Amino acid sequence: MTGTTHSASARHGPELLGQIVVLIGGSSGIGFETARRARAEGAEVVLTGRNPDRLTQAASAVGARQTAAFDATDVAALKRFFQELPGSIDHVMVTAGGPHYGPLLEVDSPHLRDALGGHVELGLEVTRNAVGKMRPGGTLIFMGDAGSRRVAPGIGIASAVSAVMPLFVAALALEIAPVRVNAIAPGFVDTPLSAAVLEDRLEGRRAELAERLPIGRVVTPADVAALAVHLMANTALTGATYDIDGGQQLVF
Ligand SMILES: NC(=O)c1ccc[n+]([C@@H]2O[C@H](COP(=O)([O-])OP(=O)(O)OC[C@H]3O[C@@H](n4cnc5c(N)ncnc54)[C@H](OP(=O)(O)O)[C@@H]3O)[C@@H](O)[C@H]2O)c1
Repeated sequence: MTGTTHSASARHGPELLGQIVVLIGGSSGIGFETARRARAEGAEVVLTGRNPDRLTQAASAVGARQTAAFDATDVAALKRFFQELPGSIDHVMVTAGGPHYGPLLEVDSPHLRDALGGHVELGLEVTRNAVGKMRPGGTLIFMGDAGSRRVAPGIGIASAVSAVMPLFVAALALEIAPVRVNAIAPGFVDTPLSAAVLEDRLEGRRAELAERLPIGRVVTPADVAALAVHLMANTALTGATYDIDGGQQLVF
């Protein structure tokens, strides 16, 4: 196992050599691609998700050292997972939990609480259970949402939700230093989640983005994975939320 706190100038070779990365939501989309990228940079990965078949497939595709199938919002199951995880870990990324769209007046109280507090609650529970096992210099990474930041018809509660994560991450970074805390805020990313949300509007949205985004193409899970691995490797980064949207906020 390597030490964890190197300055950027001191690093050579694979950026995460010998480090252990836990992906809560590692069987699909951004989490899965981050697992693949972390492996390519020399890390060992532990993948979790609810669907055991999808998890097994993902684990064999990336050569994961361990998997665990459970619902991350189940507090007892989450606690058990971290308790049973052998040894120390370096980084934990949480991609479980989806967005909440739709007209505000159609959101009932339980959904409102889940939408506003769910990501933070999951983030806090993960942190509570993981932090004692994390090596100094490692990072927690949570997901924000740059795509919903601007208020627009149909976005509903999602804009308010997207405002919470940057301050949560900043406060947590102070509280649990020297473990680092960061968030990634994507716009549209071409993942199974986006396909499920957009359904038959997916192709149209892809085409629209490819035409209008300054980068001239849609953002892929591999793009986000590259940012996630950079946040893990660069020990100068903490308390911040990093947008990755191909310029979406500038043109939509
Ligand atoms: N895709 C985008 O355009 C976009 C934009 C902004 C923000 N985000 C955020 O980025 C995160 C990842 O998105 P994605 O597009 O990569 O989604 P995805 O392809 O659906 O992947 C989500 C992963 O999390 C797991 N998961 C979901 N809920 C879980 C739960 N309660 N417990 C345990 N595992 C769970 C899924 O596996 P199982 O279903 O088997 O559990 C899967 O492995 C989400 O929080 C999303 O809101 C995405």
